[in-house]
Amino acid sequence: MSFEVVKAVNPTKATNIKALAESGGLTSVPSEYTFTTNPNDQAEANDPEYSIPTIDFSLLTSGSPDQRSKVLHDLHKACEEWGFFMVINHGVPDKVLKGMISVCEAFFNLTDEEKKEFQGTSNVLDPIKCGTSFNIAIDKVLLWRDFVKVISHPDFNSPHKPVGFSEAASEFSKRTREVATELVNAISETLGLESNYITKAMNWDQGLQLLAANYYPACPEPDRAIGIPPHTDHGLVTLLIQNDMGGLQVQHKGKWVDWNAPPNAFVVNLGDQMQVLTNDKYKSVWHRAVVNSKATRISIAVPHGPSVDTIVVPAPELLEREHQEPVFSGMSYKDYVELQQSSKAYMKPCIDFIRI
Ligand code: OGA
Ligand code: NI
Repeated sequence: MSFEVVKAVNPTKATNIKALAESGGLTSVPSEYTFTTNPNDQAEANDPEYSIPTIDFSLLTSGSPDQRSKVLHDLHKACEEWGFFMVINHGVPDKVLKGMISVCEAFFNLTDEEKKEFQGTSNVLDPIKCGTSFNIAIDKVLLWRDFVKVISHPDFNSPHKPVGFSEAASEFSKRTREVATELVNAISETLGLESNYITKAMNWDQGLQLLAANYYPACPEPDRAIGIPPHTDHGLVTLLIQNDMGGLQVQHKGKWVDWNAPPNAFVVNLGDQMQVLTNDKYKSVWHRAVVNSKATRISIAVPHGPSVDTIVVPAPELLEREHQEPVFSGMSYKDYVELQQSSKAYMKPCIDFIRI
């Protein structure tokens, strides 16, 4: 039976892994999707060295001065040592998070015909886009995930289907942006800069925010496929939520660490523009999404970046204070995003293209 299924959907032309994975009878991963990971690169589940830092957001915004400075200290450490941390007590109601996951699920349940309208073009900055692998033309391996991606700031965009998507996405993006803004201000302080330094230098008011929802169907051989291969995010900070299935792994001290967190926490990772701005002090973190054989996983990544026309350079104030030379040349955020998604940077550290 599985033979028929594979034949019925030509994977190289697939616009949708959901249909292939959920058509029934698929017992192995088709060759176009084969991606093997090395189990020796996995961190031990209970090793305290790999326990992911947690930031209590409520202490940052309404704790005593002592509590706030302790959180800033933890945040500084998390940014310097991990580039990745979990944010709890962030104040975004569960209803808003669950509501967003549920409208995204409804989006993925639309028919191919209905989704076609939202496919977008090859331009990475299309206001609305959906599909499967990032770019079938350059991806060497097809990904075990479908996605829908919208630009939600500076202008809010949304598909007009399914019912309720736009309202849920608008509320979710607004609330998530508030949390991201507080975090970026706090990160600015951990660098010894004014709290609004980063937002000013990055033209945050016009900053790019994306909502990127990922759908990873259950996979018959999870060790032989990948949801998203190792990469760094291009922006400043990405906030991510997921349904109750795990799958995000981050690289730390050469090992892949599973992120197992409550579904109401945000996972935050630093992106390439933060690494450029801090002249390598705070590094963007390598991460990937693995798949599982049990149930569908849905995640929503919300990358926040500078305005697209900002030329990002290492912060002159930091260079002066630390007596450093800049290690990156300036590039507009838009050019950087386009470079990262081009075949030139496929599976390579994009940031090395601008390293001096
Ligand atoms: C991303 C991403 C990870 C995940 O969308 O950039 O890294 O767990 N997603 O879905
Ligand atoms: Ni990512």
